[in-house]
Amino acid sequence: MLKIVIVLSIFVCVLAAPTPEELQPLLDGRIVGGFATTISSFPWQISLQISGSHSCGGSVYSETIIVTAAHCLSDYPSLTTLRVRAGSSYWNSGGTLSEIAAFKIHELYGTNGMANDIALIRLASPLKFSSTIKPIPLAVTAPADGVIAVVSGWGTKLSGSQTLPTQLQYVNVEVVGLEKCASNIYGYDSESVRETMICSYTEGKDSCQGDSGGPMVADGVLVGIVSWGIGCGFTNYPGVYADVASLRTWAENTAATI
Ligand code: ARG
Repeated sequence: MLKIVIVLSIFVCVLAAPTPEELQPLLDGRIVGGFATTISSFPWQISLQISGSHSCGGSVYSETIIVTAAHCLSDYPSLTTLRVRAGSSYWNSGGTLSEIAAFKIHELYGTNGMANDIALIRLASPLKFSSTIKPIPLAVTAPADGVIAVVSGWGTKLSGSQTLPTQLQYVNVEVVGLEKCASNIYGYDSESVRETMICSYTEGKDSCQGDSGGPMVADGVLVGIVSWGIGCGFTNYPGVYADVASLRTWAENTAATI
């Protein structure tokens, strides 16, 4: 059941399809406890768009490389339908809108539940760094349990909402280490929460549908990539992220060859 809910939840967040009636209580949510912000505070944040609609978040790694979640691209959208908006507080206007030359999904994504939920995108032309477009370094070591991190994105804000906020939102959350996240303290188990993942849990604060692929940042480095969760901000269900430190070598090697 858990797996079905996760798969459906991902399906819903990628395609922004209407939620089946009986799943409403599980998939409802918002960036609970979040606030509107501006891109200068999160200059690494981008909006990944498919056919003109925001579909996922992502982070600027270099002038030409964006880091996002594998599940954002796992149905292999055509390159011509993809765009990356950088340098804007609004997903639907401003900043720069770039075409995509290539993307690469982690080779092991899909073989082990939601493990290895990372992908890189190469832009067709380089970004120009400024006060609103800046890269974020990848974490070398996973953040300690309890560290405060910040998650940002244009994901849904209101319970049951099918509409995305147009202005960027952020929320501060507490990092939960892999072992603790997979333990019976929370609602998941070690089958769904596994290697290459890290979690966040703060009562009433979470990322949500549409935030996937986006950044969780602590101490000025990218520590997580929004990946999945049961609902958003639900008691006992942390947000689950790709653990950037454990995927950094893959990202660096892939960035050099994509
Ligand atoms: N899979 C969702 C997306 O594609 C992200 C869900 C995050 N859920 C959470 N409770 N933190 O946007």
